[in-house]
Amino acid sequence: MENIKTYIQEHKDRFINELIELLKIPSVSADTAYAQDVIATSEAVKTSLKKAGCDHVEICDTPGYPIVYAEKIIDPALPTVLVYGHYDVQPPNPIELWTSPPFEPVIKKTEIHPEGAIFARGSCDDKGQMYMHIKALEYMVQSNTLPCNVKFMIEGEEEVGSKSLSWFVTRNQEKLSCDVILISDTGMISNQQPSITTGLRGLSYVEVEVTGPNRDLHSGLYGGAVANPINVLTKMIASLHDENNHITIPSFYDNVTELSLEERAEMAKAPFSLEAYKKALDLNDIYGEKGYTTNERNSIRPTLDVNGIWGGYTGEGAKTVIPSQAFAKISMRLVPNQDWEAITTLFTQHFISIAPAGVKVKVKPHHGGQGYVTPIDSIGYKAANKAYTETFGVPAIPVRSGGSIPIVALFEKELKSKTILMGFGLDSDAIHSPNEHFGIFNYLKGIETIPLFYKYFVELSK
Ligand code: BES
Ligand code: MN
Ligand code: MN
Repeated sequence: MENIKTYIQEHKDRFINELIELLKIPSVSADTAYAQDVIATSEAVKTSLKKAGCDHVEICDTPGYPIVYAEKIIDPALPTVLVYGHYDVQPPNPIELWTSPPFEPVIKKTEIHPEGAIFARGSCDDKGQMYMHIKALEYMVQSNTLPCNVKFMIEGEEEVGSKSLSWFVTRNQEKLSCDVILISDTGMISNQQPSITTGLRGLSYVEVEVTGPNRDLHSGLYGGAVANPINVLTKMIASLHDENNHITIPSFYDNVTELSLEERAEMAKAPFSLEAYKKALDLNDIYGEKGYTTNERNSIRPTLDVNGIWGGYTGEGAKTVIPSQAFAKISMRLVPNQDWEAITTLFTQHFISIAPAGVKVKVKPHHGGQGYVTPIDSIGYKAANKAYTETFGVPAIPVRSGGSIPIVALFEKELKSKTILMGFGLDSDAIHSPNEHFGIFNYLKGIETIPLFYKYFVELSK
């Protein structure tokens, strides 16, 4: 049987077309209007796992969207890799900002992806990255080179907090037992410089509601005499950061692990250009917590951000009104050791305590999860690094990411296994944004690198 490089060359058109078919199904987990599409996607994933050579494939029902589980056990005495990914995607809106429709995938060349990238919602996050694992398995089965057991667990609720997956994992520890968990749902530094994600931030997501008068009022007749919920809400939100952009919630930083100067110096070695960063975002300056660099601000430091804010009149023209209510959705990105439930409580208490008389405030917690950090001396990390070194020609750099995959901390707690985050996306791939895309180079490089991870993981486990 040919090696992986020739196998990819021969089958790449089919690999791309199969992914394109999967991307056509709008599996938006946040919007129940797409419920049938989410379920159809789980069926499509199941079929592809079966075709790739899994012996046992099943759709596991949960209180929410189904989890696709599959396995190929070649010898119980050998190590087991558990692959996790998600088949749900973010909502596509604002749809008018897409240069081609989000669920009609097309390949376009970009400056960063001269070989072309597939433009579609979910192409990078996470259908494309998840599908690399299915094609890598196909190769290993076809070439008789699968060196260990493999289990797949692909969920449909990652983008809305993985509630059903927590339910599933706590009930199926035996079924999911493994030696390492392998995930491609993060990014790397660039197509020339691979990196392995060694940390993820935690998350606490809340919605706040400020209520003033019992109905919308004429802003002339009542203006100045009653509290305006939008004025109040924005003032409350503004007070959550001080002049150094520190978060003002009491005890918020209590459990934050400070990195040593050595660790920070190590982090600063990763290639990064502030000029290119600003240029890519059309910014004339950066922003953030005093005393930290951009790369520290977006990875090892906690944050508090408004994700959406609404209330009052936002239609065409002008309507003079003092709204009865104002709302905001707020996320706090947390670092390892900060407990997301404790932070949610601290936020709630503080936010209610700063409400002025004249309004009522409610805080509704949405979802959250713990952060994660993983050592770089584990067998899994070393195997991943050897795999990247071989396919990219340079070793991977360990990088703490600012994103969150809350389920990773739960895997460690419930399954007692470490996770290796082998991401192949780029920050510029616009995940969660209009015009999300995934480089053809990245997709095929992922398929090429994954079988090497298996090989080295088994070799180093001996
Ligand atoms: N794949 C992302 C997380 C990610 C992306 C981590 C890039 C590191 C680098 C995941 O699908 C995601 O979007 N997670 C959410 C959290 C979830 C609870 C909604 C996030 O980070 O906002
Ligand atoms: Mn993802
Ligand atoms: Mn996502």
